[in-house]
Order: sequence, then C-alpha cells, then structure tokens
Amino acid sequence: MSLQRGRAFADDAETLIDRSVFSDPVLYRQEMGRVFARSWLFLAHESQFHKPGDFHSTCMGTDPVIVVRQKDGSYKVLLNSCRHRGMRVCRYDSGNAKAFTCSYHGWAYAGDGSLLSVPDEPAAYGDGLDHNAWGPATAPRVETYKGLVFATWDTEIPPLVAYLGDFRYYLDVLVDPDEQGCSVATGVHRWRMRGNWKLAAEQFAGDMYHAASTHLSVFIAEAPHAKGIRPPELGFQAGVDGGHGLGGYAAYPYWQSQGFSPGVEDWMGAFWERAAQRLGRARTTDAVFIHGTCFPNLSLLFNRWHLRVWHPKGPDSMEVHSWSLLPNSAPPAVRRAPAARLPAPLQCVRHLGAGRLRTVELQHQQQRRLPHRQAALHYGMGVGRGPNKDFPEFPGTVDAVYSEINQRGFYRRWSELMAVPHPAEPTTAETPATESAKAVTV
Ligand code: FES
Repeated sequence: MSLQRGRAFADDAETLIDRSVFSDPVLYRQEMGRVFARSWLFLAHESQFHKPGDFHSTCMGTDPVIVVRQKDGSYKVLLNSCRHRGMRVCRYDSGNAKAFTCSYHGWAYAGDGSLLSVPDEPAAYGDGLDHNAWGPATAPRVETYKGLVFATWDTEIPPLVAYLGDFRYYLDVLVDPDEQGCSVATGVHRWRMRGNWKLAAEQFAGDMYHAASTHLSVFIAEAPHAKGIRPPELGFQAGVDGGHGLGGYAAYPYWQSQGFSPGVEDWMGAFWERAAQRLGRARTTDAVFIHGTCFPNLSLLFNRWHLRVWHPKGPDSMEVHSWSLLPNSAPPAVRRAPAARLPAPLQCVRHLGAGRLRTVELQHQQQRRLPHRQAALHYGMGVGRGPNKDFPEFPGTVDAVYSEINQRGFYRRWSELMAVPHPAEPTTAETPATESAKAVTV
C-alpha cells in the first residue's frame, strides 16, 4: 500500500487518498514527530499580550505549551510539563504570572524557562540540583510574522518567512490590510470535536465545492437579503509550495451581499480602498479571499476576519481554537457587526462555531467503518485542466474555484514529511495507540 512509502495517495496520479490517513493510530503517532515537530506552528496573536509575564496556553501537536511574553517584548514557548514528574505547571488558558508553580510538589518556573525554586531544597536535594539544567523544555525557534506568533521544535527548519513563502502574499490580506494593524477582537473560543485534524485543514485549504450544498440554508437564515453564492466560474483556488492553499472569488465586494447596515457597508468600502493602496488591487478590491490553510493546521476565513487552529487529540479527535481578528481602525459599529449582522463574539460562536463543523464529524465517521476502508477517496477535481489565467498577479498555481489542487498540495507536503522518520518517534512495536484509546468512539 502506498502509505508504507509514507504517502497519502493511493495511486501514482495522486488523485486518490487512502482513508487510513484519517484513522490509523500508528500514522497518527508518526504525524506528531514527522509533521508537527517539523513545521512552524501558529500559537497566538501578539495583541493577546500586553506586558511581560502575559501568557497564553496552547499546543504544538499534542504537546501542551505556554507562550510567555518576555521583558524585551520577545516570546518564550515553554513545554507545559514539570521536569520533576511531568505534571502540567499551568492550568489556565491565559493570564499574567510571575512564575508557574507545579501543584504536585511545588517546583516553580520563571516565565523565561528557568527553575526558580524547589520546596525544601536543602532537605530534599542538598546542593545537588542545578537550577540551570532543570527548567522546562523550550521551543528552540520562536518567530513572528505581522502579529502572528509561531514556534517550532525543529532547529533545522528555514526561517518563518521562508516557510510561509508565497503564502505571505495572501496572508497579508488578513493580517496586514490596515496601517493601524489588527487585533484579536474576542477571546479564544475553544471546543473539542470528533474528526481527524486533516479533514478540517484540507477543507479550509481548498474546498469551495461544498458551500452551496452545506451552507446555503444557513446563509439564507442569517442573511435573507444576501445575494447568494457566487457562480463558480468567477472564482479560483491557489496553491503555493509548502502545502499552503486558499480560494476566493473575483471582483466581489462581499460586504455588499451580506445584509450589512449602510454605515458598515460604507466603512467596508472605504477600508478596502485604503487596503488597495497598501497591498494593491489584485488581492483587495479585485478579488476577495474566502478560505485558506497554512500548512499544517492554521486555517483562515478571510472574509469573516477569522482564524483557527486544528489541534490533533488522537486520530479521531481534535480541539479547535478560534479567533476573530479585526483591523484596529474598525469603528464600534463594525466591531459589533463584522458579518451577517452578528456581533464579533457571536460570529465566532454561532456562524463559525462548533455546530458549523458537524459535516466534518459526519464525514469522519465514514472513514472509520470497516467496509469503507478499502474504498479510496476521490481527490481528482481539476486534474488535467489548464491553469486559471484570470488572476495573473497571484503567486503559485491557480485553478478554478471548483478544484482540489490545494488538497493535493496539502497531502503532497504531508507525504514528503511522513516519508522521513523522526529520530524521537517510537518504533511500531512501542506504539500501543494510547491516543486512539482515549479518543471519542463513534
Ligand atoms: S511533578 Fe512538579 S514538582 Fe513534582
């Protein structure tokens, strides 16, 4: 089977995906080292931090980490695991702390990753404990891109800007359209759901095809005066090296189709005119980007001012972290109604929340059922079709809006990484699928 060569594809033409990539517990364990430990992973937005000691808890793959703002404005990423017996040293989602004190025996760590104090140290250890050697593991590379904080465990990986590559052209439309910058408009919405993380990541990378079937009733209910879903011939999918991809529509002032109040519509029009001066018209007023994924697990909804991360929690489960990101120049009226007449916090919870991803859960159930596992999945949409020439300024490979070019790019990158074992991964014999045992059973 092709997976034995570390490939997601079940055929040499790369149009079929083997279903086991969504459910196999051994592949999942390998993914943590081969994919997640070798990629830049998005952790937080800089607007979530204001002063030294501010922290935000999240994950890198399955590893819990704490992102901590330092005195010099940089960030440290600490593994949230005590060096004594492995207990989590921070149980809060975010806050400000002078130290992270383990609740088991009381070892305390500073936000810079040093071991601050050990209870009854003379009686317990004499002078035999080197504090410099017993801080928590820290991510060796932490870099930011226009407010986005990323980290990696890989010391050999290219710099973040190189990793993002041509995807920066598209990403800037979400994170850098405003001369005043952008900020997280709400807290982080977190929830658990059934499903393999790749089903969500690949859908955001390139699946515009589902919208008319899956979302139309919700679009009508939320915005009855909206003008509906755009004809497919007006759109595109764009894939760039590294497994990143996105899709959108041409010449589509979406704010005129969302049922906004006139004041919000006016602000949107003026805002995107300013963004066009900053970034050029091709990616601002001449097109609207809708969805995208930055490999491996950061996804974007450009027209909803929204980003989210799919944290793997076993082959059958994931935890979703979701943010609204708004331009700092947005007035209160826009902050209250960024899309579909919903206030920004409700936007996250209602329009883009857990209920909207039921499709992924239902889809995932079918990957696990025994009779289905032998039937590969069709990822051939757009194969053999010539490039879409309607967007000559767009970097990467551009295809029609109904295309699976980005999903194929995603799995091509996944396959490249999965083909090379990680030095720290357990052998197959040592992999008892503990994560799978903990995962939700469908
Ligand atoms: S496990 Fe943290 S102090 Fe013992």
